[in-house]
Amino acid sequence: MTSLFDPLSIGTTPLANRVLMAPLTRMRATPGIDVPNDLIVEYYRQRAGAGLIFSEGTQISPIGKGYMDTPGIYSAEQVEGWRKVTDAVHAEGGRIAAQIWHVGRVSHESFHDGALPVSASALPYRNRATIKGEDGQPLRANCPTPRALSVEEIAETVEDYRRATANAREAGFDLVELHGAHGYLIHQFLSEQSNHRTDEYGGSQENRARFPLAAVDAAIDAWDAEHVGIRISPQGSFNGLDDDDLPMALHLAAEFSRRNLAFLHLSEPDWAGGPVIDDEFRTQLRAAFNGVIVGAGNYTTDKAERLITAGLIDAAAFGRPFIANPDLPERFRTGAALNEPNGATFYGGGAEGYTDYPALAAG
Ligand code: FNR
Repeated sequence: MTSLFDPLSIGTTPLANRVLMAPLTRMRATPGIDVPNDLIVEYYRQRAGAGLIFSEGTQISPIGKGYMDTPGIYSAEQVEGWRKVTDAVHAEGGRIAAQIWHVGRVSHESFHDGALPVSASALPYRNRATIKGEDGQPLRANCPTPRALSVEEIAETVEDYRRATANAREAGFDLVELHGAHGYLIHQFLSEQSNHRTDEYGGSQENRARFPLAAVDAAIDAWDAEHVGIRISPQGSFNGLDDDDLPMALHLAAEFSRRNLAFLHLSEPDWAGGPVIDDEFRTQLRAAFNGVIVGAGNYTTDKAERLITAGLIDAAAFGRPFIANPDLPERFRTGAALNEPNGATFYGGGAEGYTDYPALAAG
């Protein structure tokens, strides 16, 4: 029986265990330049016992940003900052993937010198972005109706994914994950609700998948398929997109498989009020995709072990438990009690609720 503590390879990257750390936006990058700093280095270093850490969503370009003080991966300074993170994780024997991110319309003009955020179509997202208030604290503000990307701008955005992947490689990451989930730009192209384009990027399932697959192809081109994966969130209602997207998920899985993509990361929606993914869909996904499948969202060790044993996933990623337990795999292994996460310190701020959760006492 395969357990959470058995090793696993993603592409050519060996992982010591299958307890992975989910991508978690924490909004603590250095303001103004969006560079990972020493506090962020320490946070990831503490969590290097994960089989693999997925970095927080990391914007591929300034226009791809939608939350205050999230890190980027487009400038030399940002690459240098990430290099310190990957060095620290590797020094502890860990592995880390960069989650590369473009938020599309889930953004605000205050991040873009007054310019509008961009999306597949100029359709409003009736929700709020997390901007910086006058007191420096996170503030929820209405998202403006975005501007539709032109065909040339779509090609430029694909290039941004290519550059972000090359930068992730240069910064010493082990793998790269495109953020294709949760209603952000890639998802905005996939969904009929946010994509009303009449050109080759809209309409049919194949057309709506064209930009996402071009971004994947650019990432593969910048590195290789063994180092690239993607996160998707079928059946969720994240950031206002809740169409019946299982057929699209299976279409994508087959396309990813054709490209020998290293991994597919399924963000399951029940932690955010969505339905529980059933085994029938998992079985279809497994049949459609030939790489590693990672499950995430409200996982317990029992759920993870059941699905790994059933052959439906290969590893599980844990989000909130990793926020509060830097040594989560060790706690799972020994059955130790878990620290409780404090939601008030998830986003923004300093060390409190970030690097001060206690590890188990040594010895
Ligand atoms: C998230 N999640 C998330 N997902 C993602 O793909 N990129 C991201 O940057 C973030 N950021 C983020 C921040 C915070 C504070 C939370 C709580 C969640 C979703 C996350 O990766 C995971 O899917 C959920 O937390 C569900 O897993 P758990 O927490 O039930 O293990």
